[in-house]
Amino acid sequence: MANAEFGMVGLGTMGRNFLLNVAENGFAAVGYDLDADKRDLLEQEGAGLPVKAVADVATLVASLETPRRIMMLVPAGPIVESVINELLPHLEPGDIIIDGGNSHFPDTTRRETFLKEHGIAFLGVGVSGGEEGARRGPSIMIGGDPAVYHRVSPILEAVSAKINGEPCAAHVGRGSAGHFVKMVHNGIEYAMMQLIAEAYDLLRRSEPPASAGGQFASNDAIAEIFAEWNRGRLNSFLIEITSIALRKTDLETGNSLVDMILDTAGQKGTGKWTSQAAMDLGVPIPAIDSAVTMRQISAQKAFREKQSSQFPPIGNWPIDNCQLDEKVIESALHNAFIAAYAQGFAMLQAASDEMNFELDMVEIAKIWRGGCIIRAATLEDIRAAFSDEPKLSNLIASPHFRDELAAGREDLGRVVVAAASVGVPAMAFAATINYLNAFTSERLPANLIQAQRDYFGAHTYQRTDREGTFHTDDWEE
Ligand code: 6PG
Repeated sequence: MANAEFGMVGLGTMGRNFLLNVAENGFAAVGYDLDADKRDLLEQEGAGLPVKAVADVATLVASLETPRRIMMLVPAGPIVESVINELLPHLEPGDIIIDGGNSHFPDTTRRETFLKEHGIAFLGVGVSGGEEGARRGPSIMIGGDPAVYHRVSPILEAVSAKINGEPCAAHVGRGSAGHFVKMVHNGIEYAMMQLIAEAYDLLRRSEPPASAGGQFASNDAIAEIFAEWNRGRLNSFLIEITSIALRKTDLETGNSLVDMILDTAGQKGTGKWTSQAAMDLGVPIPAIDSAVTMRQISAQKAFREKQSSQFPPIGNWPIDNCQLDEKVIESALHNAFIAAYAQGFAMLQAASDEMNFELDMVEIAKIWRGGCIIRAATLEDIRAAFSDEPKLSNLIASPHFRDELAAGREDLGRVVVAAASVGVPAMAFAATINYLNAFTSERLPANLIQAQRDYFGAHTYQRTDREGTFHTDDWEE
């Protein structure tokens, strides 16, 4: 019987949990996966809910009321294409395909155009929150035709996280806007995770060896610091899970599990795409770039190991003259988080203008407050900043953050000086302080760059004392 209201292709952890969430919200749901074990798991976990699993695309399509709403939650890349091609012969004009994966936004633009030629509507949708979010309420960033969105909004808003009764799901813009916003979300996620890792490294190493009996600070002690921070202005999902992860014991060895995990970070590409897109837009996002860079360096473990024995250590703990303590690191982290959001939102603002996404920053801050990986108390202030000034080009200029950042810059500086003086890499903190220093410098040394360009390539320059374009014929005279 064609009475299901929502279909899902891909019953991996994300797809299954999202579909169970749909069913739990009272919508009749049907899921398809080639893998029988995944279908069985859906049926088991969905016992008592209006959800069923089917073994082929034709049955999935035949089970759905028209116009059909079919979401796919499959790995980004060629699999998305093959699912679309598998579905297409069974669909009718007016049906809607929703791609809820982390697809690269140019692919979404191409797929929307392709499907439109076949009369099929397509929504590129960013879903954040991991498996727990998918099951209990993710943050959902929807891109595409607003009229199509209205046909799926009751379901997507119902399953999303809620903050003060407001859904963390919204139509953010046309075309690939949903996947673009999700990509930038992930870029901010990369920066926040790297900053947390650097703060952890400093806390771990900054315990004066004498008072710690020659040992570094324990992960349990650092977990307590993060838990304390989570009760204050740093309140956020990533700080919370950091404190929980640091307490976890490895059942095999009895050691702290974090200490048993190899220090090479993986990545699936969304951080790198953010950096690439920012370069194309001409928007500086150095904290996000640094986070991508540090994942790349972390992956080169063998090379790092070899070089660590070739380069003598620099400096010694404790570093008295930097006054580095927990409060300073907390302040640096808080300010760096604000700067990371500032970089992401500046990028969204530029993309909105260049790609005609018509992004609403207030709405984006609103739906990032709950459900997603970068949810944080600070997003409430960010939302207020954009409510006051919808066209704000950079959050660092907002009265909501200006004074705080101005004061916090000193703590960021202390952290970076301390880290550099003892050879602890703090790439994201360094990028952040330099981002703030650069954007608050009336004068940068770019005059010298212009002189060099004119010297070797007659690229011309402008002058400080009068209008016009100038070239110096003979720099050596
Ligand atoms: C989310 C996450 C999710 C995923 C990342 C991980 O918002 O729920 O961002 O999409 O965990 O893609 O990315 P990396 O594998 O690149 O770290």
